[in-house]
Amino acid sequence: MKIEEFLHMVGGYGETSYAKNSKLQEMAIFEVKPFVEKAVAEICNTLLPEKFVVADLGCSSGPNALLVLSMITNSVDELYERLNQHKPEIQFFLNDLPSNDFNNIFQLSMLYHERVKQEKGNTFVSFYIAGLPGSFYGRLFPLKSVLFFHSSYSLMWLSQVPEGLKGENCAPLNKGNIYMNEESSSTLSQLYSEQFKRDFSIFLKSRSDELILGGGMVLSFLGRTNASFNIGGIMHLEGLFLKTMNTMVSEGLVEEAKLNSFNIPMYTPSMEEVKSIIEMEGSFHLIQAHTFESNWDPFDESIDDFTVDKDLSGKNVAKYLRAVGEPLLASHFGTEIMNDFFSRFAKNIASHMSEGKPKHFVLIIILKLNDEVTKRNAMESIVSVA
Ligand SMILES: C[S@@+](CC[C@H](N)C(=O)[O-])C[C@H]1O[C@@H](n2cnc3c(N)ncnc32)[C@H](O)[C@@H]1O
Repeated sequence: MKIEEFLHMVGGYGETSYAKNSKLQEMAIFEVKPFVEKAVAEICNTLLPEKFVVADLGCSSGPNALLVLSMITNSVDELYERLNQHKPEIQFFLNDLPSNDFNNIFQLSMLYHERVKQEKGNTFVSFYIAGLPGSFYGRLFPLKSVLFFHSSYSLMWLSQVPEGLKGENCAPLNKGNIYMNEESSSTLSQLYSEQFKRDFSIFLKSRSDELILGGGMVLSFLGRTNASFNIGGIMHLEGLFLKTMNTMVSEGLVEEAKLNSFNIPMYTPSMEEVKSIIEMEGSFHLIQAHTFESNWDPFDESIDDFTVDKDLSGKNVAKYLRAVGEPLLASHFGTEIMNDFFSRFAKNIASHMSEGKPKHFVLIIILKLNDEVTKRNAMESIVSVA
């Protein structure tokens, strides 16, 4: 089944909502801010567009979606003030899968518009916000209509669990696991990496069709260090997930068959894999590549302080994992076990944290259409005008 039919974060503003539990992702947006500002400034300086079309892909719901928007509008406004030029109008598309809580972002958008009008007055750059449901693994916009794409903490989601995981006669190839781990067969790792390769290539091709010449993209998403296994890798979270679920299976709270048939539609690539897909797909030139690490617990900002309250950290981590994963897990395992599962998961995460300070590894890539594609598109435009 394609995940676009059911994947979404927890909507609304409740205690378990993504809106209230997305500090980890908010911190990543701030980490990427200088790259976004630089890319936007380059586009403006080179093209001085009258209309600036921007899209945030995988925006989810809650304040992070508007954070990206405010970063870009502020940056364009300041730049044009400095250049003493007539300001462009910004069309901002917020994209996510159809089951995303778009009502939440529409309401926040109205409030944000009013606040900006009050605080910045009428001379601030004009901007228009639209929600755009659909999968970014395919075309979302007309040809050559967008100047800048941003996406944060989204591209590690695959379009589907790799087909071959069902194995022969539908016997699960990944029995007892939900992702890859140290013991996974090379076949399994290959299935995941090929699914990512297919998805990411489609993503690149689609964006290359949609981008206006001179436009660009800044993408950040979860990855893994070259040494595939580190203390904070997503595979460690898998281990803790399984430990929690297996206990619940042994207590008769979860059916073993349910656990065996569950696989997570996610893949955290290394930077080398990402670079090689970009090169092979051929539409984009990689301008810059960076990585950063962030503590699993976003409220723990220390680098090497190991005295933090592990129980509290375990709860903090389980809270954002719930905001991200509950709809997916509940659709497979049932909503009734969610409270119990996440409170046990928090305890297992806390005990893992006594072994060290686990971290997420995030990739940032800055891309522009590659010269060949730019030339080809220019030729196509000339031919179509003629
Ligand atoms: C962890 S959230 C990140 C949200 C936001 N960018 C942030 O930084 O807070 C990942 C989002 O990606 C969306 N997503 C996953 N696969 C997608 C796809 N194929 N097309 C569009 N959105 C997708 C999910 O629905 C989810 O809202």
